[in-house]
Amino acid sequence: MRGFARQLLITALLLLGFAVIGVGLVAATHEATKERIAENHRRMLLRFMNQVLPPERYDNDILRDRVQVVDPRLAPHGEAVTVYRARRQGRPVAAVFTTVAPDGYNGRIELLVGVDVSGRVTGVRVVDHHETPGLGDAIDIRKSHWVEEFRGRRLGDPPLKRWAVKKDGGVFDQFTGATITPRAVVKAVRHTLLYFQEHRKTLFTLPVPRAGGGTGEGP
Ligand SMILES: Cc1cc2nc3c(=O)[nH]c(=O)nc-3n(C[C@H](O)[C@H](O)[C@H](O)COP(=O)(O)O)c2cc1C
Repeated sequence: MRGFARQLLITALLLLGFAVIGVGLVAATHEATKERIAENHRRMLLRFMNQVLPPERYDNDILRDRVQVVDPRLAPHGEAVTVYRARRQGRPVAAVFTTVAPDGYNGRIELLVGVDVSGRVTGVRVVDHHETPGLGDAIDIRKSHWVEEFRGRRLGDPPLKRWAVKKDGGVFDQFTGATITPRAVVKAVRHTLLYFQEHRKTLFTLPVPRAGGGTGEGP
């Protein structure tokens, strides 16, 4: 009986040892890849950032000069949206929003929307989406130049009620057989401009939250 108990203990210890080694290996792999993933994410963000706002227009570290805001027009369910602030010699130049259009055909569409201090769109890029290839994916710059329709526009150009796809009486093209996707993107850009118009002054004065600090509430 004592021999059996000993055998049982050895087996249990062996199992525990394997479990500890397994967890350790997973943790080590995670740690090793975490930094690489973060660096890849940073590069991708900067690539899109340069497309929505030419880097020669500002001289600050735009990826660090960021705040988080919460507004249902920018993202659903109380989700915080990051606003990157571009400045030149300390003066506000533009803001770039990570707006989310919640109502794509296949769910959320993640955008970068650049707006200069005068309220003009400097550029829009779709960063992530699940729209149907060949139907809704023309919002992706790799598939078509449709998002370039926004560049240089502002509230008033066109008038607010024409900030819609043509099928809804607006000025923006829909796609053949796919209106839901472009409608969602036009609405998200329009909402971003409305938010910017209301919060332009405070947006540039909000302090950058300390590292590890919580989400900054909207101005
Ligand atoms: C399988 C399938 C996938 C579709 N994918 C999209 C899509 O990604 N984006 C989109 O706008 N419409 C998509 N549609 C078409 C929409 O159902 C809708 O008919 C279209 O957007 C036209 O909308 P409207 O009636 O408001 O003009 C898809 C339809 C089917 C059957």
